[in-house]
Amino acid sequence: MNGNPVSSVLFVCLGNICRSPLAEGVFRAVLEERGFTGMTVDSAGTGGWHAGEQPDRRSIAIAAHHGVDISGQRARKVIVEDFSRFDLILGMDRSNVADLKALAPAEGRGKVHRFLEFARQGARDVPDPYYDGPDAAAVYRMVREASEALAARLVRDPENRNRFRLD
Ligand code: 4NP
Repeated sequence: MNGNPVSSVLFVCLGNICRSPLAEGVFRAVLEERGFTGMTVDSAGTGGWHAGEQPDRRSIAIAAHHGVDISGQRARKVIVEDFSRFDLILGMDRSNVADLKALAPAEGRGKVHRFLEFARQGARDVPDPYYDGPDAAAVYRMVREASEALAARLVRDPENRNRFRLD
């Protein structure tokens, strides 16, 4: 992964209504704070049950509490083209990662990682908050910390300020 060009990141969870839309919004905000432009950021779900829907109200609320508006995002299912369109595909938990690796064409498999590999405390799952999971504030903290850690590893290409590689 180190040294790889990264100009696009896809966050993936199961439903694309709780965790990955929050990660998309928070990572965008972290990039903006750092003045990093030119990065494509999106999110998707391995399941399509909620396609077309807004993020879960709990995710919208915790993001808004931290000044991030994710209410305009709409859920979608992962498609095979995502494995060529995105440089980095980050699953929220180990089952998302397993599902993504099963879906990925062989050449796309190396792009798939668990998001919290980037967190200071090391690889863990962002727990599924849909049914009685952790509170939204705990999920927000994990997502924010891993987003900052990921952004801290992005190094601008000196020849093209809109391109990055992973340090
Ligand atoms: P997410 O949470 O994967 O963080 O979006 C879930 C949302 C919906 C369902 C499961 C998890 N569901 O089963 O509909």
